Amino acid sequence: MSWLEHEFEHAEIVREAAAGCVAVIVLHSTRLGPAFGGIRRWAYPGVEAAGADAWCLAEAMTLKCALAGVPGGGGKVALIDHPRLDRAAAYEMIGARVERLGGRFFTGPDVGTGSDDLACVARRTGYVTRPEVVGDLAEPTAHGVFAGIGAVLERLELACSDATVAIQGLGAVGSRLAAKLIDAGARVLAADVDAERLARAREFGVEPLPNEEIVGAPCDVFAPCALGGVIDAGAVQRLRARAVAGAANNVLATPADGHAMWRRGILYAPDCVINAGALLRGALHHLEGVPASAERIATIGARVGEILDRARRENVPPEVIAVRVARERISAGS
Ligand code: NAI
Repeated sequence: MSWLEHEFEHAEIVREAAAGCVAVIVLHSTRLGPAFGGIRRWAYPGVEAAGADAWCLAEAMTLKCALAGVPGGGGKVALIDHPRLDRAAAYEMIGARVERLGGRFFTGPDVGTGSDDLACVARRTGYVTRPEVVGDLAEPTAHGVFAGIGAVLERLELACSDATVAIQGLGAVGSRLAAKLIDAGARVLAADVDAERLARAREFGVEPLPNEEIVGAPCDVFAPCALGGVIDAGAVQRLRARAVAGAANNVLATPADGHAMWRRGILYAPDCVINAGALLRGALHHLEGVPASAERIATIGARVGEILDRARRENVPPEVIAVRVARERISAGS
């Protein structure tokens, strides 16, 4: 089944032969407010695959906005990457199309799209979130994840100062999260494929582990902050954590892995709830004219807590509850 048969509000193709630009813009929903979503540049095999990914990511943004309490919806741009792509021209062209949408869609960073690319988009539109303007986006993400881990620890009846957290990936988010946890008195184990990053983190109190040991490390919370799909059938069996709560998108390889984790009694803070700090910072900058404060971002903790409590009450995995809550809010608000 093609993505075109799914529900969405608007889709368009941005195509310009001289620049080698082919991109698909999808607005999934603007029922609660303008759509938010970044530009993903990836070597998609064709327009159909790019559109399918844009649709999927846009739908996820709709749910994420509803769960974060942002009066907005989801959109996404998928730009097909290839060696002859005139990157600057392509991003400018996307900016021109975003401008034409007249504020129905705000775009921003995603995989493959950095500051220089967004500067090209900004030449043609103001409907773009740029870290130079709204500030470092990894910080609010780390702050939201820290608050979410706090909510998880409360449910485990454990103080942060008595907790051990194992972080996979000490990049922009993971290293900030590690520093916050250490400040709060937690023991932090971590792994990264980049040995230099791991060595730097050791200086501020992180205990390094070989990468292949991090998923199965004995700890209270496993915090994936590197890749998606890290919780697959094998990982569910290897986990020795009581909870999984981290920044990575699409943590669960398949829905079945979430169910298996639930059956093993491992709490899971759904990624779409816990990693919304950057979305809050960017969206509220556009909607309210000021970036979200640290206090506002810390409300992610309460949102994670609500989902975990309802999951327990209804005996349904938290990621299933999260989708249910988002859909309820979207239909109530529409
Ligand atoms: P980053 O690229 O700065 O850091 C990722 C880190 O993971 C790097 O240090 C890298 O060496 C390490 N890594 C890569 N593969 C690994 C592996 N197989 N095992 C162990 N470590 C590995 O990315 P960033 O910005 O810190 O994001 C982390 C995750 O959080 C990503 O999944 C991202 O999609 C997600 N996320 C980030 C947001 C942000 O504001 N930066 C917002 C929402 C989600």
